[in-house]
Amino acid sequence: MTARDWWKSAVVYQVYPRSFADSNGDGVGDLGGIIERLDYLERLGVDVLWLSPVYRSPMADNGYDISDYEDVDPLFGSLAQLDELIAELHARGMKLVMDLVVNHTSSAHAWFAESRSSTDNPKRDWYWWRRPRPGFEPGTPGAEPTNWGSAFSGPAWTYDPTTGEYYLHLFAPEQPDLNWENPEVRQAVYAMMNRWLDRGVDGFRMDVVCLLSKVLVDGPDGRPQLPDGRLERDPLGAGVVDTSRYGDTTPLVVNGPRIHEFIQEMHREVFADRPPGVLTVGETPATTIEQARLYTDPARAELDMVFQFEHVDLDSGPQGKWDIVPMTMLDLKHSLNRWQEGLAAAGWNSLYLGNHDQPRCVSRFGSDDPAHRQQSAKALATVLHLHRGTPYVYQGDELGLPNAGFTRLDQLRDVESLNYYAAAVASGRSPEDTMGALSRKGRDNARLPMPWDASATGGFTSGSPWIEVHPLAGEINAAAQVDDPASVYAHYRRLIALRHDEPVVAHGSFRMLLVDDPQVYAFVREYDGVRLLVVANLSSDPGVVADLSEVAYDDAELLIGSVQDATPGPADPLAPWESRVFRLA
Ligand code: NOJ
Repeated sequence: MTARDWWKSAVVYQVYPRSFADSNGDGVGDLGGIIERLDYLERLGVDVLWLSPVYRSPMADNGYDISDYEDVDPLFGSLAQLDELIAELHARGMKLVMDLVVNHTSSAHAWFAESRSSTDNPKRDWYWWRRPRPGFEPGTPGAEPTNWGSAFSGPAWTYDPTTGEYYLHLFAPEQPDLNWENPEVRQAVYAMMNRWLDRGVDGFRMDVVCLLSKVLVDGPDGRPQLPDGRLERDPLGAGVVDTSRYGDTTPLVVNGPRIHEFIQEMHREVFADRPPGVLTVGETPATTIEQARLYTDPARAELDMVFQFEHVDLDSGPQGKWDIVPMTMLDLKHSLNRWQEGLAAAGWNSLYLGNHDQPRCVSRFGSDDPAHRQQSAKALATVLHLHRGTPYVYQGDELGLPNAGFTRLDQLRDVESLNYYAAAVASGRSPEDTMGALSRKGRDNARLPMPWDASATGGFTSGSPWIEVHPLAGEINAAAQVDDPASVYAHYRRLIALRHDEPVVAHGSFRMLLVDDPQVYAFVREYDGVRLLVVANLSSDPGVVADLSEVAYDDAELLIGSVQDATPGPADPLAPWESRVFRLA
């Protein structure tokens, strides 16, 4: 392994700061809480901590609306504590990756305040300002400059009476999009990134980075215009916008014409002259394998890896994320396999099943039936961590936390869910049906406080938590698992250690076996004469037998098995959700 691709044998742990650990009793997680819990992460064995935003923010989208890129929000602590976190991580041989949210700022950012103040302000062009649609009364429905919808319901344009124009926001109105066509914007962002790296952070997770470049056409007045979207959905756009009400923005804003130019420029201006060791991962919804290869082929000097969305959009129907359609294990297998094959020769995968935007993976892709939950959480982790790519663990997934089982709107806090509820019910979806969809896929499932122990607030806070504690925190918590060799946590530890110890996990080729088997998930990894065989039963059926006749597995050595104290061979029947990793002679 060269220092340049150290992240191939690394595992990243995502901390959602608001929900991780509260050190000052205000009910909201903070930097002090993270620092207090670093021993837990060190013991788990993870190499990198990805910290969701802690910058100053009005918190319209829990920090993904940044009003000052250079400071820490007092809710989370101080810059001094962030420096302490960096030092504590480095002392443990771990790294810190910050969230970089530069598709948009908060509407409370000083740049936007200037931009909105007048049409001739020097920062006017830092955002997307456009005139109302001719023939419509400004500020009324239909007068928006284009037919674009926002990812958080409603139009993607908000009218600003100060200057009589609209500004673009692909997310909430409090999140105006920056205009990356303007070189001053790009330079301001690069300067900010350089300051963070100089301060000691080790990389960036780049929020919706594939949205930075938008399609422009010549307008009648000679000014470049953003075009209307088509009123039918691009199959790639699942989960982004409700295209039954709005034009589809996917072909107009995802991987736009200048995106690779921008990312290559960013690489030159920020990363190229630094010693190896920095990690860059782009969040890229609605992105194809071909595009992902362009982003992550090292020869192109763009990003180390991207988060693709194909597998987390499998259960989204024609009307987007809340139009939930059935998804089978085969769908998941085929999708992940395509990505393994697609990035085998050039490029690199990020491996994830959950994060702060997704429901809990054990409920969505596994089984959260109490009879199967633990084995199911282990099985999903086994197959994910043994794929080729860099695994990401979302806080609480290493405990096997399931969805929360929300039944009432007042249990939810997320702007996306609350906006969707209002819009859906107003347009005729029944409240029960709407709540059912939010319960299954709402982002708050992943945002409940991390359960540290069995106490009333799960050890998360001494105060009153900002959102309710997980209903199963009394049973599923860190204290109950860290010393239990049969726990989900212990299983994650073994998987992470295996990646560190066996170069084949990081560098080996990937070959899926039994590609069309609806229950067995099996594959072989191979590197430098070493072969690993991974076999899992991704179903609740007992006694599943994997037909491994296409592999020679004499003298297989069990490295990791999910059933405590059992030493099965590769072809022995698999219990529900059982998973095994073997080294082959
Ligand atoms: C993706 C982030 O992960 C999500 O939490 C956020 O709401 C949107 N981007 C907008 O920043």
